[in-house]
Amino acid sequence: MKALVYHGPGKKQLDEMPKPALREATDAIVRMTRTTICGTDLHILKGDVATVAAGRILGHEGTGVIDEVGAGVSHFRKGDRVLISCITACGKCDYCRRGMPSHCESGGWILGNTIDGTQAEFVRIPFADTSLYPIPATVDEDAMVMLSDILPTGYECGVLNGAVKPGDTVALVGAGPVGLSALLTMQFFTPAKIIVIDLDDNRLEVAKKFGATATINSTDGKAVEKVMAMTDGKGVDVAIEAVGVAATFELCQEIIGAGGHIANIGVHGTGVTLHLEKLWSQNITITTRLVDAVTTPLLLKTVVAGKLKPLQLITHHFALKDILKAYDTFGNAGRERALKVILTND
Ligand SMILES: NC(=O)c1ccc[n+]([C@@H]2O[C@H](COP(=O)([O-])OP(=O)(O)OC[C@H]3O[C@@H](n4cnc5c(N)ncnc54)[C@H](O)[C@@H]3O)[C@@H](O)[C@H]2O)c1
Ligand SMILES: [Zn+2]
Ligand SMILES: [Zn+2]
Repeated sequence: MKALVYHGPGKKQLDEMPKPALREATDAIVRMTRTTICGTDLHILKGDVATVAAGRILGHEGTGVIDEVGAGVSHFRKGDRVLISCITACGKCDYCRRGMPSHCESGGWILGNTIDGTQAEFVRIPFADTSLYPIPATVDEDAMVMLSDILPTGYECGVLNGAVKPGDTVALVGAGPVGLSALLTMQFFTPAKIIVIDLDDNRLEVAKKFGATATINSTDGKAVEKVMAMTDGKGVDVAIEAVGVAATFELCQEIIGAGGHIANIGVHGTGVTLHLEKLWSQNITITTRLVDAVTTPLLLKTVVAGKLKPLQLITHHFALKDILKAYDTFGNAGRERALKVILTND
């Protein structure tokens, strides 16, 4: 089968790889029908994610059709259309039982990380019963792909951890697909002001259409003064970091108001200075989280009801065999005006 393989920092190839086979009774083999590329895949290619070894098939998002199930899988059978969660959950370990499957003792974020992922014609999904979801007949399959990772990530790591409340002023730093997912889902809670900060004017335009009340292009280095001017010098109630570089986490520390929450979403490959000399007295809460994808069923209900519209996050379509072109488009999102790209394997 064809698969996108990581060959060390900066190196990727579309390779011919063996089709995966069942290993455990709880596994399923899924024939991929849709997959996509995540900002995290770009971090992996930068060498930011040390757990990914050369030779790994990348990808942790997508939908497909069950090709084969192990004897221990009871919830799915051959031919079922499924959503693949980016988080593999055994459902039984201590972490899974307390609602934190991101740290599942035999799962967590393993797809396209420590086991082969979804940017391929087939993928092996461990603990299929608790790591896949059936696709409702009424939901567009492209829309479903947004539920594998980015919508639960924006919602759980950004909106819920940031404790967005009605009337809040929220700063969202980073208007990539994950940041925009936080933007869409924070509006469940009716914040009063949403200030979106990015370097890319196209993404800021999109943010306005998605509900931002103000946008700041921070290329000129003046984002802090601008946010302070917009908040009567007080700073924001919630600052969500959705980039994953030191500068944007530092920005969140500078614009957070007293009693505020800084919710980090970004994957960081290098250290960031924590400014406790300023923040110690400010009653700040800082949260970090690897997405648990425990809100997928809730988010799916909002999609089915038409309250959340994931299709607007998708800008480009490619065939799976053209995935290198898709990486080029997603990796040059500014130039290409790209948000999420869908790869189809029909
Ligand atoms: N915590 C988790 O579980 C989890 C899950 C998925 C993704 N992520 C991470 O979330 C982050 C966002 O993902 P994405 O897919 O939206 O990525 P992306 O690369 O598409 O988006 C990042 C955005 O940040 C902007 N940006 C870059 N540098 C900036 C700067 N200095 N100031 C302001 N804006 C800047 C870019 O223009 C871009 O719009 C990534 O770090 C990704 O790895 C985390
Ligand atoms: Zn991801
Ligand atoms: Zn577990």
